[in-house]
Amino acid sequence: MKAAITATAKYLPDSILSNRDLEKMLDTTDEWIVTRTGISERRILRDPEKATSYMCGEIARQLLEKRKIDASEIELIIVATMTPDMLFPSTACLTQGIIGAVNAWAFDLNAACSGFVFALNTAARFIESGVHKKVMVIGADKMSSILDFTDRSTAILFGDGGGGVILEPADEDGFGLLDSRLYSDGKTGQEHLLMPAGGSLHPASHETIDKKMHYIHQDGRQVFKSAVISMADVAEEIMKRNNLQADDIAYLVPHQANQRIISATAERMGVDQSKVISNVSRFGNTTAGTIPICLAELDEQGKLHHGSNLILVSFGAGYTWGGIYLKWQ
Ligand code: COA
Repeated sequence: MKAAITATAKYLPDSILSNRDLEKMLDTTDEWIVTRTGISERRILRDPEKATSYMCGEIARQLLEKRKIDASEIELIIVATMTPDMLFPSTACLTQGIIGAVNAWAFDLNAACSGFVFALNTAARFIESGVHKKVMVIGADKMSSILDFTDRSTAILFGDGGGGVILEPADEDGFGLLDSRLYSDGKTGQEHLLMPAGGSLHPASHETIDKKMHYIHQDGRQVFKSAVISMADVAEEIMKRNNLQADDIAYLVPHQANQRIISATAERMGVDQSKVISNVSRFGNTTAGTIPICLAELDEQGKLHHGSNLILVSFGAGYTWGGIYLKWQ
């Protein structure tokens, strides 16, 4: 038994932060940001009372509406995020409470930008084993909560938002999530992309605040190199394992970090740019949110057809990376 996506949804806050706005806050230019990243604007969840669980709640409600089911039918909720409302309780539990999914258990999964791909793969195992019939998988991040808006090298890259899916047993053989390859490299990755404080190593203190240790820290050049190689490698591996040629692929849905990383991955796969999903110019990098947002947009535009072959690929902090091959039901 395979697991198939039966509903998609997304949530993006209304408030736009454009490159022009950033020009007024930082020593940067629209031209620099667009050339280096492909990003023109991103969304910001400005209401200080609202956090990641608010976005997850909005996504979860839409998923139930679209699938026309009651919250009580959901058996498991996995939220992929690295910006939970708080360390505990989990944002998945908060989401379960918001929608009243009284029969679901819920947990968060943190694989940074690969969070949704890791969570989707995890959720699929519960369907394939016959343990559950309806699982909700959400990827969402309020990146503005951990961005240093005086640091031009990171503040320009990220935005707030998320998306999600419902996973159920596929109706037909040969449809749904057909293959996946997931990887981690904590040895190389841990020093290049991290939020140093707020955990058990450096609990919050005056010192951690003074040293700006509660913000995202990144060596952009190192991460860029690793992301290009790893995403292209895993995409190629998935194609080879499943005897897929570039022409067989309906859409490549890559993590939206940087247009240059997206284009390099597509080039290595030999996939025409017209099949490569990119919305990084409008939303920036929403971390665990990027891939489910892309899926929801494709779905809204009526572009996902019975039998469409999709490849999802991601790369993020950890390092974590991975790819999923799914045939749309
Ligand atoms: N505006 C203007 N100049 C900037 C800038 C900004 N927003 N940010 C950095 N610069 C400057 C740097 O200070 C540097 O100046 P210097 O040469 O005088 O030292 C110069 O631009 C080049 O910086 P560099 O970091 O080498 O640029 P880059 O071409 O590697 O692009 C990133 C920077 C961050 C866009 C790129 O490395 C990247 O996208 N990395 C991956 C990040 C990512 O996606 N992370 C999420 C994980 S999936």
